[in-house]
Amino acid sequence: MNKVIGFITEKGGVSKTMSSVNLAHILAVSGYRVLFLDMDAQMNATDMLMMGTEYECPDHLNLLCSKMEDKAELYAEYIYESNFDSIDCVPGSAALKEVIYSIHSASQSDFSVFTCMRRNIGLVKGDYDYIIIDTNPGDTTLTRCAICACDGILSPIKADNFSFSGVTGLLQTIIDLKQLYNVPIEFMGMFFADVNLNSSGYKRVKAWYEENYRDYILPVSIRHSVQVSDSTLRYLPLLIACKRHGTTDDYINLAKTLNLIDEAHDKRLEQYLAPRKAKHC
Ligand SMILES: Nc1ncnc2c1ncn2[C@@H]1O[C@H](COP(=O)(O)OP(=O)(O)OP(=O)(O)O)[C@@H](O)[C@H]1O
Ligand SMILES: [Mg+2]
Repeated sequence: MNKVIGFITEKGGVSKTMSSVNLAHILAVSGYRVLFLDMDAQMNATDMLMMGTEYECPDHLNLLCSKMEDKAELYAEYIYESNFDSIDCVPGSAALKEVIYSIHSASQSDFSVFTCMRRNIGLVKGDYDYIIIDTNPGDTTLTRCAICACDGILSPIKADNFSFSGVTGLLQTIIDLKQLYNVPIEFMGMFFADVNLNSSGYKRVKAWYEENYRDYILPVSIRHSVQVSDSTLRYLPLLIACKRHGTTDDYINLAKTLNLIDEAHDKRLEQYLAPRKAKHC
């Protein structure tokens, strides 16, 4: 399978991090080997996955701009075990704020910068079933490098007027980058996140998206719940923080709707979800 999936949209605060972390964890619990790449200077995903673990913030500029010889360099300097089984992590770094400017100037003289990270993470792609990328908001050289590194892109949206331009901008950027650099990137779809399923606003906005973006809108929405912010306080993915919960189910449904979990792995996930029965003598 070996698929690189990025959670990307220009709009900030729309659940990219929550969705990428929880999807990565659901895939890991299902038995897949997952590499998580935190490309955001806020490092929220790194906190969720690595809290209390020792790591050094990696040299992202090198990852983004220098062609690596072999995967040994990635394992030695970039990839750490996370707190969760089957998830390795390339931590984010506050330095990514500056890296944005450095790769922007590097890209002025060398266009291959945009596909350099795709090439570098390609060195370890065979070692993971899924590589999940969390990105910073906005349309920067950094997000463009992340887009080019992806096989598929998912965009969470909120039920408001502002998420829309974040996705339409992204769709055009994907078209441009595919043409310019000949990279096969699939837009896997957008999904509502952090929504109240019963609110009339959500229903209205959803109907509008379904009418105008039928091919792009996924049939799963992620419910708003206080358990999500609670899970961040404990640095735990939802499947651990609240295994049986509507929002957790929504993320599982999202993974299944996208056909990310095959039958054998689905069995393993169901075993994890099954209530533990008392043993009788
Ligand atoms: N389903 C949900 N229910 C309740 N709160 C949520 C839900 N999804 C996300 N949130 C909260 O919304 C906020 C934004 O979520 P998140 O950090 O995942 O967005 P983001 O798109 O990664 O933001 P940024 O663009 O800044 O990186 C967080 O405080 C998070 O806890
Ligand atoms: Mg984020």
